[in-house]
Amino acid sequence: MQLLWSSFVVLLLLQLQPNLGQRVVGPYPEERTPSGRIKGGEVAEPGFAPYQVSLQATIGTHNCGGSILNERWILTAGHCVQNYTPDRVNVITGTNQFREPGAIYYTEEIHMHCMYDQPYLHNDIALLKLSENITFNEVTQPIALPSKPVQTGDVIVLTGWGAVTPNGGAQADLNKLTLGFVTFEECYAIFNQTANLGVGHICTFSQEGEGSCHGDSGGPLVSNGAVVGVVNWGRPCGMGYPDVQANVYYYLDWIRNKISGETRCKF
Ligand SMILES: *[C@@H]1O[C@H](CO)[C@@H](O)[C@H](O)[C@H]1NC(C)=O
Ligand SMILES: *[C@@H]1O[C@H](CO)[C@@H](O)[C@H](O)[C@H]1NC(C)=O
Repeated sequence: MQLLWSSFVVLLLLQLQPNLGQRVVGPYPEERTPSGRIKGGEVAEPGFAPYQVSLQATIGTHNCGGSILNERWILTAGHCVQNYTPDRVNVITGTNQFREPGAIYYTEEIHMHCMYDQPYLHNDIALLKLSENITFNEVTQPIALPSKPVQTGDVIVLTGWGAVTPNGGAQADLNKLTLGFVTFEECYAIFNQTANLGVGHICTFSQEGEGSCHGDSGGPLVSNGAVVGVVNWGRPCGMGYPDVQANVYYYLDWIRNKISGETRCKF
């Protein structure tokens, strides 16, 4: 009953607040909205983001981004893998063209944050444990976890295959975009004190016409050599509002505990 009730509340909220915190994409968004590339970005050169992966339910169809933390673990957004069984989460590595996998790895376990979407749009983070070790090479490498919070002035790089328009199609090439950090206070004010924003989020912005879009979800925001954000939600695409990402620094304990084998829901 507890579960049914929670789902009901979330559905109710979705219906009551259609404009609050539109996700960049939903769970496996291509089934509802096509994916493409980052709005306002440029094509990334080969090997630019060797930690970037594409999550594909059907090989050849990009659903979400993710990043390689180590040989066995992929970081992504909760809404990218919610309600999916591991066999529907194929991980494509070592490529800037999602249709041309460098390698394909299979997911053995999906670990959603225990408080995923509670409250609505919070704790939108998940980890995938692969069935075998990733083989690293020039274009396939892990990205470090952050050792300090993101600060004003930090340069943040977003990569993804996400769309240029809300209904845009998937783009073949990985795109990159440089963004700045927006403080919580500023972001909270811009979003009119929405309850959808909290300490587990960071906001990024460059300028109107640039930002994350459908298909970028789950993908990495990297600063100072570490993955600092996971694409969560925003007003797609490049509408002049900050984009909202899971704050990886805030989830460090959760990530480390899951990777070290903690399966209980105590975080
Ligand atoms: C996978 O990688 C880990 C970490 O380097 C290593 O300890 C382990 O032996 C590897 N497993 C296999 C099956 O190669
Ligand atoms: C915040 O409220 C103002 C005034 O109603 C509105 O113009 C603006 O679009 C709102 N911001 C967001 C992010 O919805």
